[in-house]
Amino acid sequence: MDGSEILDIPLPDDEAFTKFILHYKQLITMYESAVRCVAMRLSIMEKEADTTGKHNPIRSISSRIKQPLSINRKLRNRGMPLTTKSIMENLHDVAGVRIICEYLSDVYKVRDNLLVDGFMELLQEKDYIKTPKLNGYRSLHLIVAVPVPFQTGVQKVICELQLRTTAMDTWAALEHSLRYKEDRPCGPEIDRELLECADMLAETDVKMQKIAEQLNIFEN
Ligand code: GTP
Ligand code: MG
Repeated sequence: MDGSEILDIPLPDDEAFTKFILHYKQLITMYESAVRCVAMRLSIMEKEADTTGKHNPIRSISSRIKQPLSINRKLRNRGMPLTTKSIMENLHDVAGVRIICEYLSDVYKVRDNLLVDGFMELLQEKDYIKTPKLNGYRSLHLIVAVPVPFQTGVQKVICELQLRTTAMDTWAALEHSLRYKEDRPCGPEIDRELLECADMLAETDVKMQKIAEQLNIFEN
């Protein structure tokens, strides 16, 4: 497809269409703003650790807004209406923030730091570290309502936060490209091997945690 094809498509001169585009843009702006608020909180946390010389529990942060097609697919699969209201009421993962930590205890430290002052409201918590998924997936998932200061007033916007260690992230990223997204049939042998990899990485996380504790990483 070249650019001329795109430019040739006539735009529908339709009130409903224009209204939809406007609503959709507002919706995405709302989620993007919520992600910014979460990112701001996290960057303050990092700066605090930096200036006080303490161990920084955050290794990296990434975020994404769910693609419109994925939003539609998810609503359709669940038999829910395809409206902007329905997106806000039914989907908790339109805005997603992933926080990668160095050590196991860092995951819970960041979680506690984020929730300690009640700025964000915790709506749901799934601890796939304490109780991993059957395939070996590990992460701490928080669904939170983030207050976003718009000119029209403060609005609570729902975000999904995924907290995990570097080791958990390595496994999830590779497993995702191997299977989760592609829906590639792998068979029980591959499933078992992937589970073994996840368990080995989890053991490594526990060992690294102990080494860090022995070296008093968390105390200075
Ligand atoms: P979704 O409909 O996928 O959002 O599932 P859910 O609402 O039951 O939430 P869950 O907490 O199980 O998973 C949410 C997100 O966690 C997914 O969108 C992925 O980003 C991640 N995730 C969950 N399970 C797996 C997994 O087995 N492998 C990988 N790589 N990621 C996963
Ligand atoms: Mg999801």
